[in-house]
Amino acid sequence: MANSIRKIGVLTSGGDSPGMNAAIRAIVRTALYYEIEVYGIRRGYQGMIEGDIFRMETTDVANIIGRGGTILKTARSKAFMTDEGRRTAFEQLQKHGIEALVLIGGDGTFRGAVEFFKQYTIPAIGLPGTIDRDLSGTDYTIGFDTAVNTAVEAIDKIRDTAEAHDRLFIVEVMGRDAGYIALNSGIACGAEDILIPELVTHIDQVLKRIDYDERRKKTVHVLVVAEGDDFGGAAELMRLVKERFPGIDTRATILGHIQRGGSPTYADRVLASRLGYAAVNALRAGDTQVMVGIINDKLVYTPFEQVGKENAHISDDLIEMIRVLAV
Ligand code: F6P
Repeated sequence: MANSIRKIGVLTSGGDSPGMNAAIRAIVRTALYYEIEVYGIRRGYQGMIEGDIFRMETTDVANIIGRGGTILKTARSKAFMTDEGRRTAFEQLQKHGIEALVLIGGDGTFRGAVEFFKQYTIPAIGLPGTIDRDLSGTDYTIGFDTAVNTAVEAIDKIRDTAEAHDRLFIVEVMGRDAGYIALNSGIACGAEDILIPELVTHIDQVLKRIDYDERRKKTVHVLVVAEGDDFGGAAELMRLVKERFPGIDTRATILGHIQRGGSPTYADRVLASRLGYAAVNALRAGDTQVMVGIINDKLVYTPFEQVGKENAHISDDLIEMIRVLAV
């Protein structure tokens, strides 16, 4: 049964991810369809504190489904971590007559939400938006597919030049605590090795594999490392590889924020549209303080306090496959 919410606020928070605009579009259009007013809150929780809030119309979200970034801008707000910041934020919502919220972001966004809703009562629905794909309660997060495809395109290019020069390349991809981008781009690009935080990196084995490949005249190596790998990132690995194999021409590339931008893939646009539509309908149905995700193609609603960082489940078989295919 639809409830009587008449005004909602929407914000994007934390690191941006491709597809956030598609989500905003779906939220705005669904809300307007049901005659609910929508207010955009710029720069996430920070904009909520500062009252950077504006009414959105359907034209505000025209032609944004294919654009990276977020038209609402985003931020990681320190002020929202304080009682005073959260109180000011709530006062701003009241001032604008906002009766419910839709929050798009990652782990930090949901941790902020949990603190906020301990103190203040207002219906809210979350959407998983992060390139890292490290949230529980959903199979995929908005932006992950695009980020992996960006990494794949870049690593393919790196392999071309690695082949031409018989070089060893270390490619660092994003993922502060999560190896999903490294794992998937590494598999897709036929990386000789993949180093991720979810698995303890035994550096001796990594070096042993390089040595073995060199001895059998496999002279091109592409190693993909997640920025959050327990051994360290590309710089540390490069230092060690150069020290151990002074004869191998070694280079390191850090892909960095290129992975956060760009036009979202079809998969991210569809995911964001489905989740945005579902979020408004969840509010209308009276749901609150849950993140909407999709698991096995079904909408799933997970309470904010249960949405946490989730490590990749990497089966032994997958690891074996990576080794076998890299031979
Ligand atoms: O949004 C996730 C992420 O891209 C991580 O993969 C990365 O470690 C971090 O954000 C970078 O954050 P910032 O843009 O603040 O440097």
